[in-house]
Amino acid sequence: MDDKLILAIESSCDETAAAVVKNGRDVLSNIISSQIDLHTLYGGVVPEIASRKHTEQINQVVEEALKEAKVSLKDIDAIAVTYGPGLVGALLVGVSMAKALSFATKIPLVGVHHIEGHISANYIENKDLEPPFVCLVVSGGHSHLVRVLDYGKYEILGRTRDDAAGEAFDKVARAIGLGYPGGPKIDKVSYKGNPDAIKFPRAKVEGSVYDFSFSGLKSAVLNYLNQCEMKNEPIVQEDVAASFQKAVVDVLVEHSMTAIKEFNVDKFAIAGGVASNSHLRDALEKACKEAGVSFYKPSPILCTDNAAMIGAAGYYEFINGNVSGYDLNAIPNLRLGER
Ligand code: KG4
Ligand code: ZN
Repeated sequence: MDDKLILAIESSCDETAAAVVKNGRDVLSNIISSQIDLHTLYGGVVPEIASRKHTEQINQVVEEALKEAKVSLKDIDAIAVTYGPGLVGALLVGVSMAKALSFATKIPLVGVHHIEGHISANYIENKDLEPPFVCLVVSGGHSHLVRVLDYGKYEILGRTRDDAAGEAFDKVARAIGLGYPGGPKIDKVSYKGNPDAIKFPRAKVEGSVYDFSFSGLKSAVLNYLNQCEMKNEPIVQEDVAASFQKAVVDVLVEHSMTAIKEFNVDKFAIAGGVASNSHLRDALEKACKEAGVSFYKPSPILCTDNAAMIGAAGYYEFINGNVSGYDLNAIPNLRLGER
């Protein structure tokens, strides 16, 4: 088959991103304009500000992606864009840009599911990775354990019943005074703390071995902080961070290993912003080694939101004939596997 170049656009949350990807695996450019500094002022993502900033940035980011890849629109075979899930106003900026470009140039348009993008980030640095495999997708908005049956074909084994893993990281970080975004900060300070200092719960969800629940853990941390204050006891930020993180990592590793055994897979991958957590990566690497399973972990820059992963997913959708019409709309609560 001829080489296929995908121009990919991602704007579902607080990064405005565009990339050019060849044949779903080779990244020719990956431009990310982050809004984190802006949102840090407010302690979290402010949707209205996110949409406005995307509108300001999107043209430049797309131009930059083409320039860095040393291609022009006439070289592009398809334009892939995240159309859900995410913040509706933020998604709409990317979707409108992709539709306008596609309409003006007649280059086919491909709507991509954001989680499918996160999973596909694994194809970029592992040219040999092919489905089937199991993937743990943990980000600010999602915690999914997914069986990747084939390109574009997924079975969700478990999902969170309440907070996403990244959301729990962000809320706990705020409560212990680390600020936003919480994940990377907890990851860092935990090296100075004792992960066994405080016994936080490892939540089990009734009736499901694979579903997650992180809100009980978040409440346990808040209760612990309140009790310390009431008893006038000092709070050791590093110990709280390390103990909370261990509780999250233990549950994620346990669920992942259960799925690996039940489905007898020999390949396991991780994805999403929380997958850049160094403690989680180490724990899963060790567990996979013990189980004799190949472990795939994208570089941190491909774990957090980016457009290269959308280009990888978009390529497989495109070659499988899944082209979108101009009625493509932003779907904030789009489920994986739906089109
Ligand atoms: O995938 P992502 O960039 O956006 C969503 O699709 O949600 O994930 C962002 C989330 C945030 O909650 C952030 O705190 C978390 O990923 N995160 C981390 C780390 N880096 C980012 N969580 C734990 N440890 C990290 N090193
Ligand atoms: Zn994401």
